[in-house]
Amino acid sequence: MITVKYTNEVLKHFQNPEFMGEIENADGKGTVGNAKCGDIMEVYIKVGEGEVIEDIKFKTFGCVAAIASSDTLCSVAKGMKIQDALKITKQDVIDAMGGEVPAVKVHCSILASEALEEAVKDYEKKKAK
Ligand code: FES
Repeated sequence: MITVKYTNEVLKHFQNPEFMGEIENADGKGTVGNAKCGDIMEVYIKVGEGEVIEDIKFKTFGCVAAIASSDTLCSVAKGMKIQDALKITKQDVIDAMGGEVPAVKVHCSILASEALEEAVKDYEKKKAK
């Protein structure tokens, strides 16, 4: 059996996720799945003046690392301009969670940024209409 150890920061985001939920009438919604484990992640954004992410929420059917990294990504992205938020890397998310994620869980921490990308695509599609 593999034992996975998480940092306190990861566990804090997992146990008390501040950004978990859904935004009604979101300006953009992104959904991605992880083919390996079957987990699913959704990210919702509300975009305000100057293309700033005014609000962001996530829903995850996934593991501890997926939930913690989604919450972390949301906390970093809130208040950023869309184009800057898209530059948040997997490493930025890991650093914000205390700099460490077990190697077998690194793939989980990219789900949130992929879902954010999809939410932005959705926002831009709606805006173009
Ligand atoms: Fe599926 Fe982590 S094991 S997202």
